[in-house]
Amino acid sequence: MKNEINQFENIADELANNGFAVCDDFISKKHTDDLLGIMNDEEMKFKKAGIGTQDNFQLNTSIRGDYIKWIQYKNAAPATKEYLSKILQLMDYINKTCFLGLKDFESHYTRYPAGTFYKRHIDQLKFNDHRRLTFILYLNKSWIQGDGGELRIYQKNNTFTNIEPVGGRFVCFRSELLEHEVLECKKDRLSITGWMLNELESLKFLK
Ligand code: OGA
Ligand code: NI
Repeated sequence: MKNEINQFENIADELANNGFAVCDDFISKKHTDDLLGIMNDEEMKFKKAGIGTQDNFQLNTSIRGDYIKWIQYKNAAPATKEYLSKILQLMDYINKTCFLGLKDFESHYTRYPAGTFYKRHIDQLKFNDHRRLTFILYLNKSWIQGDGGELRIYQKNNTFTNIEPVGGRFVCFRSELLEHEVLECKKDRLSITGWMLNELESLKFLK
């Protein structure tokens, strides 16, 4: 799988140079369709996403308007497992090249209904700072300019890069370093969002 190794190499390079990486056609069109099918299943119950954790948890639509459904790897649909096993390989590769000490990941399906957004923020939560790398796979098949919903990543001196959430595009960035936001989308915006952690997920709850 030379292609996959090339993708991983480019992602690791971009991460080292800029703190973020973008990779188009991370998965095939067929795989994108399969994941869309899973997300559009009526059985799939999404919940309004909040901000903060535990004691500090709030639902605040003026900050974020998305709906999420956490993924449990062992119960996940085959297409989701296939994607997440590629993530495990990428995590291995990044560990060999970027020394972030990644040990595990968590992920959820994400739906931003038309008219929603996520204001400028950083992904490390106060009570749980094990998020090292945010990764997002976009699943929007016919996204065109004007549909909004760009991921805006802020860099030095308040300059920024806008990334359109087009299907098959994979983005990852350093969770504790880069502020970012999701601009208002004009139509439903679908993705799978995850974080690579420097601690095992199962150990987080012991704290
Ligand atoms: C997040 C986030 C960006 C995106 O979920 O924390 O910033 O493009 N998502 O969906
Ligand atoms: Ni974020």
